[in-house]
Amino acid sequence: MVLTLPSLLLSLLVLPLLSNAASRTSPPSGAIIVRQNTKTTGEFATIQAAVNSLPSDGSNRSIFIYSGTYSEQVYINRTGALALYGYTTDTTTYASNAVTIVHSSSQASGAASDDATGTLRVHKDDFSLYNINVKNSYGQGSQAAALSAYGNRMGLYASSFLGYQDTLYANQGTQVYGKSYIEGAVDFIFGRQGLAYFEGNTISSIGPGCITASGRETNDTGSYVLNRNTLVLGPTALTGTSGKVFLGRPWGAKGNIISHPTIESQYLNSRVVFKNTQIGAQASASWDPCLNPALWSVWSTSDTRTDNVLFATFQNSGPGSSGVTLPSFATALNASAAAEYTIATAVGSDWESWVDTNFVTGE
Ligand SMILES: *[C@@H]1O[C@H](CO)[C@@H](O)[C@H](O)[C@H]1NC(C)=O
Ligand SMILES: *[C@@H]1O[C@H](CO)[C@@H](O)[C@H](O)[C@H]1NC(C)=O
Ligand SMILES: *[C@@H]1O[C@H](CO)[C@@H](O)[C@H](O)[C@H]1NC(C)=O
Ligand SMILES: *[C@@H]1O[C@H](CO)[C@@H](O)[C@H](O)[C@H]1NC(C)=O
Repeated sequence: MVLTLPSLLLSLLVLPLLSNAASRTSPPSGAIIVRQNTKTTGEFATIQAAVNSLPSDGSNRSIFIYSGTYSEQVYINRTGALALYGYTTDTTTYASNAVTIVHSSSQASGAASDDATGTLRVHKDDFSLYNINVKNSYGQGSQAAALSAYGNRMGLYASSFLGYQDTLYANQGTQVYGKSYIEGAVDFIFGRQGLAYFEGNTISSIGPGCITASGRETNDTGSYVLNRNTLVLGPTALTGTSGKVFLGRPWGAKGNIISHPTIESQYLNSRVVFKNTQIGAQASASWDPCLNPALWSVWSTSDTRTDNVLFATFQNSGPGSSGVTLPSFATALNASAAAEYTIATAVGSDWESWVDTNFVTGE
């Protein structure tokens, strides 16, 4: 192609802007640097070392992580705000992420709690994660969390959470998950008191089981609200997954509630709302509808725990959305009832002061 002078000038001016618009390949101003095998003074070779270097005060800090697979378990509990940024050539999607944190731990292999299994354990308020894959590589057979979230005002954006059982432990505090990838098979979005809002994520089932297991311990209106997410059968799904995936089942501890001060009912509450869910990828007409037509499951046939649940759906669409036959404990919301479950009801009316609206709009 022959470039005229004006078009050459135009492309010189415009192309760099376009090509850089969505990348983050160097540290944001003020960020501490993590780089594998670094020999540079002031940089850190592991994420935990960088976290440990931060002052234990209320200052607002950030960490930039260069490309690579970091085999470590990361625990964060400093007081001040913290953002973790992964190197990427496209900040808008998890699909270009170049940073992975991986660790293998499960309760079967000795971890004392779901939290202790987590590859990334966040025990603090005011935390954000951008463009980072977080994986628990234990595999099938036991509780093995990728993320363990215990904090208020946590934003998790364009990241991936990968595991099999109990991948994403939204256990305490308030969190938003935006434009991320969440993969697992058994109870892979779960927790007790956590209040969470999910928008624009791809939720990927790789084996038979329930996507959510909410076990709220109080009779309040807190819930997980999932709005405008896409459910897919994952690329590594086991044969026989089809028809054996449910939106959720009620976690709890019937008859076995040990000295918890806030328990107000015999059966723990379970509250999950799926709105505007795309079931099956839009482009794939041949998508295998893996959801069971009942959509929701009992805890187990001998211990159903369905007495005190809100399991609600509104406006499912996509190739896997037809032929639904809801059980009596589930609710099909009408438009006005569905409108009650918003980002504000999920994580608080102050959400606009801490949520990154490039990833989560609340719409
Ligand atoms: C921390 O700093 C970032 C970047 O300036 C800002 O977006 C964020 O709101 C701050 N967080 C808090 C809790 O002050
Ligand atoms: C963070 O955890 C460590 C180890 O458990 C503990 O000693 C420290 O007091 C905690 N810091 C904060 C701010 O909670
Ligand atoms: C939960 O609270 C609601 C609203 O206050 C009330 O109607 C319901 O009976 C309570 N359920 C239990 C099991 O306590
Ligand atoms: C929508 O559902 C709510 C809750 O069940 C009910 O109170 C309300 O009457 C319904 N509205 C319409 C228009 O059907």
